[in-house]
Amino acid sequence: KAIPKFIDPLPIPARIDGTLPLTVTMSEFDQQVLPLPFPLTTVWGYNGTYPGPTIVAQRGTPTNVTYINNLVDPANPANPPKLQKYLTVDQTLHWADPLTCMMTPGCNMMLPYAGPVPAVAHLHGGEVPSAFDGAPDAWFTPNAAGAPVSTGPGFVTNVYSYPNAQQGTTLWYHDHALGTTRLNVYGGLAGFYFLRDPANTPTNLPGGAADNPMYEVEVVIQDRMFDTAGQLLFPDLGINPTIHPFWIPEFVGDAIVVNGKTWPVFNVEPRKYRLRLLNGSNARFYSMALINPVTGAPGPAFWQIGTDGGFLDAPTLLNDPVALAAGLPSPRMLIAPGERADIIIDFSAYAGQTLLLNNTARTPFPKGAPVDPKTTGQIMQIVVGTTVTTPDTAVFNPALPGATLRGVNPILRLNPATATLTRQLTLNEVMGMGGPLEVLLNNTKWNGLQAGTATPIPGSTQVGTNWLTELPRIGDTEVWEIVNLTADAHPIHLHLTQFQLLNRQPFQTNKYLKAYNAAFPLGAFLPANGPPYPYSNIGNPTLPVGSTVVGGNPDVTPYLQKNPAPALANENGWKDTGIVYPGEVTRFVVRYATQDAPLTTLAGTNTFPFDPTAGIGTLDAFGFPGGTGYVWHCHILDHEDNEMMRPYMVQP
Ligand code: C2O
Ligand code: CU
Repeated sequence: KAIPKFIDPLPIPARIDGTLPLTVTMSEFDQQVLPLPFPLTTVWGYNGTYPGPTIVAQRGTPTNVTYINNLVDPANPANPPKLQKYLTVDQTLHWADPLTCMMTPGCNMMLPYAGPVPAVAHLHGGEVPSAFDGAPDAWFTPNAAGAPVSTGPGFVTNVYSYPNAQQGTTLWYHDHALGTTRLNVYGGLAGFYFLRDPANTPTNLPGGAADNPMYEVEVVIQDRMFDTAGQLLFPDLGINPTIHPFWIPEFVGDAIVVNGKTWPVFNVEPRKYRLRLLNGSNARFYSMALINPVTGAPGPAFWQIGTDGGFLDAPTLLNDPVALAAGLPSPRMLIAPGERADIIIDFSAYAGQTLLLNNTARTPFPKGAPVDPKTTGQIMQIVVGTTVTTPDTAVFNPALPGATLRGVNPILRLNPATATLTRQLTLNEVMGMGGPLEVLLNNTKWNGLQAGTATPIPGSTQVGTNWLTELPRIGDTEVWEIVNLTADAHPIHLHLTQFQLLNRQPFQTNKYLKAYNAAFPLGAFLPANGPPYPYSNIGNPTLPVGSTVVGGNPDVTPYLQKNPAPALANENGWKDTGIVYPGEVTRFVVRYATQDAPLTTLAGTNTFPFDPTAGIGTLDAFGFPGGTGYVWHCHILDHEDNEMMRPYMVQP
């Protein structure tokens, strides 16, 4: 049965005050995700809603949250939740296994898991002490009735305190349990976290600096699949079933769900709105524009005013109807899994009209299959009314030249010339008979051991039972050159610190792969990470000669082509997730300091309001550091669940 579209209004998540002590409980419940007469859908969520409530935090005031895992069958709390049968855990992945099947004689890892659900919430984009970061190995099983029966090796506490010292922006919280993030987020464990900073917010934005959900609306876009009974369907026919019985490389759904409703209708007034967009999908990218669904004529433009980590210096015009009507190109709004975009749309010229928010991004992005214009090509309908309740008086006008978003505090531009280290890190797909077996960062698994051995990769440092290769020093600036050797784009996300996307540059992929494979004769199964060498600077004059290159791969620099293309205007701000395209080197400038730390801050100085190095050298009962450290990973959830994630720590 086709799902009828544009029936239900866009739900707006409840907002909760992050200045008060919060308890956030994960649980299973039924919610009307599909339109009637479809039945309720069983989902997981925070505080009884999917998506979870929007936590509204204030810069300078910590948010204290007690997380409770109540992911059990509501009718019989001794049993696992019903949705577990729909979200098949693949026990052959390195995952948050409360029952340690791998170590248990007689346990068959090829069977679906049926036990207590491990979960842990991470504040995506937050500058947070590692013990409160919700790292993948800091999971815990249901604890509503008391202490959890089991906890991950990185678990420190379920009572977190978020410092809220960074710049105001759109963050989000979501589940991050090792090897099951794709399932737990798919079930519904995601919500927004607005960090407000009225002193550094233009006063006349729609919704105001205070909290008016009428004109400032959070919008999370997710693709889903439903069975004929209206329940969530997550395909679990592994592509290499003898190795990973249930894992598939990228989940893409055939229905679009916005704020927990399939294809909703967003009723707006003919005035300006501020939308906080989030791509909360497992693997699907969205390339979006507003159009007239009948004529295809372009609708209103998007003015992007903020990125993952704060306001841009100036508004950026996307999907400009004037340019498009004249046949000129204008960028669409592209958003990868994990990314956020703060945008303004002016509906005042569209009173009485019906618009469609469409999508044209292929899957896998950017060269895969086209969307189906009847389903995945549509996101939601926007119906513009004819009356305005609260007019746009003296409202912020993004179109005015010089419209400023940051006043006297423009973005501090990190200087790649001050980098102490350049990391060249590859993205690798490991192929099996039926398709990818796993996806890796710098050809290295999570634990840093060489594939199938107990031998750590060269040049790594043991921390607990993992061997780490990314150990930046506090206060340092580094350039991370991400060399994409796969055929698809990956949104690469770093925990702890907001970075800047410097540029992207194509390289001669086939020639470089020849050198790469010659250096690693057993091909992609042999981990990289050789000794450091000095940066050669060939073809890339923006970076300092002689800074040390680590990563252990053959230098990609001689294979670079063309000139580096700077970050797009709407990426030219603070980012925590950046799109890394195939055949390109994408450069991030990363500084291990809080965003507002002066550029003159000395390396080695901790300018975070907490110590992100805490825990180094002090091991817990499991032999793990007192904190759990941080991670960096691909935000395609199916990738991060199958080894495209590395733990990392910051050094004093
Ligand atoms: Cu949005 Cu490490 O995650
Ligand atoms: Cu990926």
